Amino acid sequence: MIRIEDLAAPGVQKLTAYDPGYDPETIRQMLGLPRMLELGSNENGYGASPAVTELLRSRDFSDAIRYPDAGARKLRQAIAARWQVDPSAITLGNGSHELLVLIAETFVAPGDEVVFAQHGFAVFKLAAIASGGKPVEVPALPRSGPQPLGADPVAMTAALGPGTKLVYLANPNNPTGTWWDRATLAQFLAQVPRHAVVVIDEAYREYVDEAEVPDALSLQALHPNLVVTRTFSKAHGLAAMRVGYAISNPDLAAVLERTRLTFNVNLYAQAAAAAAIVDVAHVEDVRRSNAAERAALSAGLQALGLFVFPSQGNFVLVDFERPAKVIEEALLKRGAIVRPMGGYGLPTCLRITVGLAQENTEFLSLLARVLQEDLA
Ligand SMILES: Cc1ncc(COP(=O)(O)O)c(C=O)c1O
Repeated sequence: MIRIEDLAAPGVQKLTAYDPGYDPETIRQMLGLPRMLELGSNENGYGASPAVTELLRSRDFSDAIRYPDAGARKLRQAIAARWQVDPSAITLGNGSHELLVLIAETFVAPGDEVVFAQHGFAVFKLAAIASGGKPVEVPALPRSGPQPLGADPVAMTAALGPGTKLVYLANPNNPTGTWWDRATLAQFLAQVPRHAVVVIDEAYREYVDEAEVPDALSLQALHPNLVVTRTFSKAHGLAAMRVGYAISNPDLAAVLERTRLTFNVNLYAQAAAAAAIVDVAHVEDVRRSNAAERAALSAGLQALGLFVFPSQGNFVLVDFERPAKVIEEALLKRGAIVRPMGGYGLPTCLRITVGLAQENTEFLSLLARVLQEDLA
């Protein structure tokens, strides 16, 4: 008997599908609750720029019969102007998730080594395996230091070698929230062999408020093999639109163009993202509000006696120091979605998105009740 699974490419046979978390509406209906507190997917409760919502509301969608601009000229120009780069340096993706996978598909041949950190963003390992690469998962820093369970720069450097083709590093990282400072990143990049491509995933860049966390774009002049990925899903509040972008050396972008699906970013997403990128003040408001709420949420969690990881993103990782899946399930039953971390090798942890002030307050009292009931 043929097992269909055996027909898949070798990399795909070893793959488990990415866990996207719960769909809030589906789970709400299943549980029969009036609403859900959605703190599981690191979305942006502050919403998109008013200019974007206005733009989308004013469209009549008669242009839905046409293909979008495959080259997304206006959006690429808008992004290029925002970051003072050439439009030819920009590759757009259906979310930055697509770009992370596209980069592996484009550069990794079977057997090539793909280096990333333990507890790094899950897509890194999946993209490595799917493209037939050899995943090299580098042990993380201990929980006791200033960057608990973050990527270990010394171990990451030691993992580089003649077989390395691709390196992924999220800065700051999801789910740990940890980061590398400028000197650490610069020193690491200097050690990466020229035959390897380095992706610095800056999905949470706009939330960073520590001056020491570098904007990796500033290191690109020195490193033609460096790709920086960013997204409209987080601080821009457009997760449903699915738009991400990579900024790289134009030669590298031209190679990605060979494998990119031609119309991968739809017409309305292109327009929404182009309006979003120019509203710098909105992103700054989001950053400021998130930073204040992240501090308040972290303090509230610490007051419950929990270990809270430092974070530069719009989420915090929390260690309950006992199996956390039961806590996640208890929260879910009461209407709060958070993300269990068993898949990341962190079964005692949950990742909690920083919500709006009233959501965080509501969540903290819900969690306090769950912990109390559990301990009773
Ligand atoms: C570190 C990191 N990179 C990339 C992504 C992908 O986001 P998107 O595909 O929505 O741009 C996420 C999503 O949560 C993420 O946490």
